[in-house]
Amino acid sequence: MLERHTREYVETRVRAGVLEQGTVDVLCDSGVGARLKREGLQHQGIELRFDRSGHRIDFRELVGKSITVYAQQEVVKDLIAARLAYQAPIYFEAEAVRIENCENEPEIHYQHNGQSHEIACDFIAGCDGFHGICRPAVPPNKLQIHEKYYPFAWLGILARTPPASHELIYTYHERGFALLSMRSPEISRLYLQCAPEEDISLWPDERIWEELRTRMATQEGFVLKDGPILQKGVTPMRSFVATPMQFGKLFLLGDAAHIVPPTGAKGLNLAVADVRVLTRGLVEFYKRGDREPLRQFTDRCLRRVWRCQRFSWWMTSMLHRFPNEDSFSHNIHHAELDYVASSRAASTTLAENYVGLPFDTPGLF
Ligand code: PHB
Repeated sequence: MLERHTREYVETRVRAGVLEQGTVDVLCDSGVGARLKREGLQHQGIELRFDRSGHRIDFRELVGKSITVYAQQEVVKDLIAARLAYQAPIYFEAEAVRIENCENEPEIHYQHNGQSHEIACDFIAGCDGFHGICRPAVPPNKLQIHEKYYPFAWLGILARTPPASHELIYTYHERGFALLSMRSPEISRLYLQCAPEEDISLWPDERIWEELRTRMATQEGFVLKDGPILQKGVTPMRSFVATPMQFGKLFLLGDAAHIVPPTGAKGLNLAVADVRVLTRGLVEFYKRGDREPLRQFTDRCLRRVWRCQRFSWWMTSMLHRFPNEDSFSHNIHHAELDYVASSRAASTTLAENYVGLPFDTPGLF
């Protein structure tokens, strides 16, 4: 296992925070769920907010499931601790530079402590993200790319202030999307729709709080208390899928193969679903010499990938302000929010997708 960054960096880098029940189950079944069960915050629903009023989507009531708020870097900490505890190595600050011979006897060439090394592999799990070296190791003529860019980004903050609501609030406002999320009872995570090239230096703390208050205001007088901002950053929004997700003995997982915009909270969950499919394939191969599940890796992952792409695209389109929307589109957009908030059937489709599609239903691994 090669990791480019230091252990400290990956254990503190702020990323996603929403785990589907299926993801929680995978982590617990793998023996890394103890702290997650203790510290994870169970949420039974979310709020959709627009026109200065809130509409609760009650997951428990609509689909009988819930989600868990537990930060991605906490999952990373638990995974690292578990692997080191059974004495399997992780090389931190090891930079993979080249992958060779994926179709026969794959090799990873990497740099560690100023020296060049290589690993001879049976298989390579390419979990190195969108900018990693694994996807480019697949010959371009063997890869199909499907992608979509959105004309906006998110400005995100982590703040030391108790979350203003005990559930996530997804807000649509004429000035753009806003999201209230959290990491713990003391730490809030908040986002604002901004321009893709937004200059963060133009956003002093007071301006961020002011804009959040404007967008999240309600008729009942919603109160958002500020607090010290611990971190700020701009997240671009894109949808991306590369297929096939495998080439010879190299497999692409998570962001190495696909990116979803964060609005559906699917990125981490989709990566865990890919890992689950690969793990099952590897177990079949090493236990029984059966190569078929590994051969089917892409097909087994892709149906969920596209279902999550559709949901993330839909949530993103519904909740953001598009520049230059004409009056027809603007009214349709509003009608969509109104429908989701007021129809049980429409809220149920949101809830069903948000809590996560089940594993092991026909075709959905
Ligand atoms: C987060 O807490 O970082 C978060 C939550 C929900 C989203 C995206 C991000 O849809």
